[in-house]
Amino acid sequence: MKRFIATLAALAALATPALAAPGETHAPQEYTWSWEGPFGTFDDRQLQRGFQVYQEVCASCHSMDLLSFRNLGQPGGPFEFLPDPEHEGELITFANPNDNPVVMDIASRYTYTEIDLETGEEMERQGIPADRFPNPYANDAQAAASNGGAAPPDFSVIVKARPGGAEYIRSLLLGYDYEVPEDVTLLPGQHYNPYFPGGVLAMGPQLFDGAVSYADDTPQTAEQYAADVAAFLAWASEPHMEQRKRMGLGVMIFLLIFAVLMWLAYRQVWANVKH
Ligand code: HEC
Repeated sequence: MKRFIATLAALAALATPALAAPGETHAPQEYTWSWEGPFGTFDDRQLQRGFQVYQEVCASCHSMDLLSFRNLGQPGGPFEFLPDPEHEGELITFANPNDNPVVMDIASRYTYTEIDLETGEEMERQGIPADRFPNPYANDAQAAASNGGAAPPDFSVIVKARPGGAEYIRSLLLGYDYEVPEDVTLLPGQHYNPYFPGGVLAMGPQLFDGAVSYADDTPQTAEQYAADVAAFLAWASEPHMEQRKRMGLGVMIFLLIFAVLMWLAYRQVWANVKH
């Protein structure tokens, strides 16, 4: 057994992607998330705050092409449960996220341009829950041109796409307070951040204490914003994580009961057979 565990550990170490480390790239700072472990779940309040930070700070540069507003209200999403206006302290949910009033309200604050099928003219309409999150730029070329040549990456699966995931994103957002090493030269528009592979990137610091006003008394600090937005992006990368974990637990329980039944049946079948 010990050898088995040691082999597993060795395999796991091999499978962990190494951080590209030219120069002095720092490994992401460790952080304890609510969704860690086999029973961990996302914290809805944190996802809501993270969405707010995304909307107010990041969305002017970073798209989230794969997300529709209705995803925000689906099972496991930030706005799945809303306070019940009729019974204080209770929560309500909507079978169809398109009927979720918070989701409808968020979508309705955006305008979309469409072709009127009858007149062929362009017309503007309000967003609806089925709309995708709007892209801040018309295309990649414009995105790159507006950011000194480096297009801000899409956020739909960024947490899955980067080694270190949410911890990397949190560390990156908080990682600008380092002195620029002597052997690093920054061109205009470039910033030094040792958590970014290579240390030089085209995104400056984005989060400052007090910049986003939370509705509740959660601390309004850059640290808190960074954790919250990283949590939101982790959810967006794996919106069905909670169902997956629940399903896994169900399967384990089923297998356990099945094993007990099989054992009892085995005893029954062979009870009177001499061996
Ligand atoms: C003013 C535009 C702008 C804003 C606002 C902005 N970013 Fe960026 N971001 C960029 C650009 C440009 C890059 C690409 C940097 C590069 O590759 O050099 C980038 C890259 C990133 C990366 C990718 C790093 C990698 O590994 O490729 C992450 C993660 C990121 N931003 C997170 C955020 C978050 C979270 C917010 C909101 C809190 C945010 N950004 C707000 C412009 C922006």
